[in-house]
Amino acid sequence: MTTRRTIAPEELGTLDLADPRLHAESDLSAVWRHLREHQPVHWNPATDTAPGFWVVTRHADVTAVYRDSARFTSEGGNVLETLLAGGDTAAGRMLAITDGDRHTGLRRVLMSAFSPRALEPIVASVRRTVDRLLRDALDQGNCDFAADVAAGIPLGAICDLLGVPDRDRAHVLSLTSSALGSHDADSTATDAWIAKNEILLYFAELARDRRDSGHSDVIALLAGSEVNGLPLDDDEIMLNCYSLILGGDETARLSMVGAALALLEHPDQWQALKRGDAGIATAVEEILRWTTPALHAGRTATAATEIGGRPVAAGEIVTVWNASANHDERVFDTPAELRLDRTPNKHVTFAYGPHFCLGAYLARAEIGAVLAGLRDLVAEMEQTGPATPVYSNFLSGLGTLPLRLKAA
Ligand code: HEM
Repeated sequence: MTTRRTIAPEELGTLDLADPRLHAESDLSAVWRHLREHQPVHWNPATDTAPGFWVVTRHADVTAVYRDSARFTSEGGNVLETLLAGGDTAAGRMLAITDGDRHTGLRRVLMSAFSPRALEPIVASVRRTVDRLLRDALDQGNCDFAADVAAGIPLGAICDLLGVPDRDRAHVLSLTSSALGSHDADSTATDAWIAKNEILLYFAELARDRRDSGHSDVIALLAGSEVNGLPLDDDEIMLNCYSLILGGDETARLSMVGAALALLEHPDQWQALKRGDAGIATAVEEILRWTTPALHAGRTATAATEIGGRPVAAGEIVTVWNASANHDERVFDTPAELRLDRTPNKHVTFAYGPHFCLGAYLARAEIGAVLAGLRDLVAEMEQTGPATPVYSNFLSGLGTLPLRLKAA
């Protein structure tokens, strides 16, 4: 029940790969296949309002760009939205858009909060939340899997990490959706800007409260740490809290909703999961590959260089497309098939190299909890209405998925 227009490779000359509608409303798989085969490093031309950029589609080239943060910096922005707007004011202060020693130092501080051991209580709480939300949805019979189940899981975990009080969580959730501007075709840049600023203000206040207050959450960790011998200021704390919410909430949510849809659309795989023919850990990796919630990442070339033999000039914008690399037939057997027992599975859903997703372990635990919950608690799923896509050139997936669930 999700009909998307298939775009033929012949239309490539008319496409702007920065257009959110293109990604939301159409199936680009034939275009990606064509690009991988014939133009693996393609130039998306400038428009009246934005500069052109390179589009890198093969797995090997994508990982080469990710690996080399000296040649391809994130400090000009790491997604098209900011790169095309001329940069990101948080560069050098927010982890994902900081490179070099400062990135290494800041990442080391944050890593301690993201180790499997530190996350143990949070993962236990994720499992309880999934169980509760699925049982509620089963009691109701009908649900919007996106709003009623998936929405509560990653944000709950990040709020646990950051020590956000329960009373503020619904407010923070609504702000994060608006800040990414991805929930409908008509949300404006101004709405997103206002929401982003509200989130920043919220965390600035929380950070001020947490200094010297004996808390053990990530805000307190950041407030009590030094990077390269200097303490982090309030701005840096606020920006890095914000980046955890924006990086870890909607991405994981989209993966969970995509998991439910994938199981609905592939009854053989749903049965394989139920029978135990596909284990949860391998199924999680295939769901991550299949859904690829972060379509691309962006970089800026620091000097004249080349990618896959194609010359790239200093200062040019380079985008690497996880959505294409995860279907590269040079790396994956039958990439267009969902195979929950797929191994090996070298997807780049969490990127690769120095900026490899900090929240990967947590995201895997969240998706695993949802798959295990569906396997154990749900006998049947049926789609009861149209699913709606999110509108974004960065995020991919469904903003709503109406389902009827029957208990096992
Ligand atoms: C980095 C994807 C979940 C926090 C990244 C990057 C990708 C990504 C592609 C690299 C960006 C780049 O190279 O420019 C995803 C996906 C997720 C997910 C698809 C869910 C399925 C999470 C979670 C958190 C998180 C749950 C935290 C709670 C971060 C952070 C970075 C990052 C802080 C920056 C790391 C660095 O620059 O060193 N993520 N992410 N992500 N992610 Fe995730």
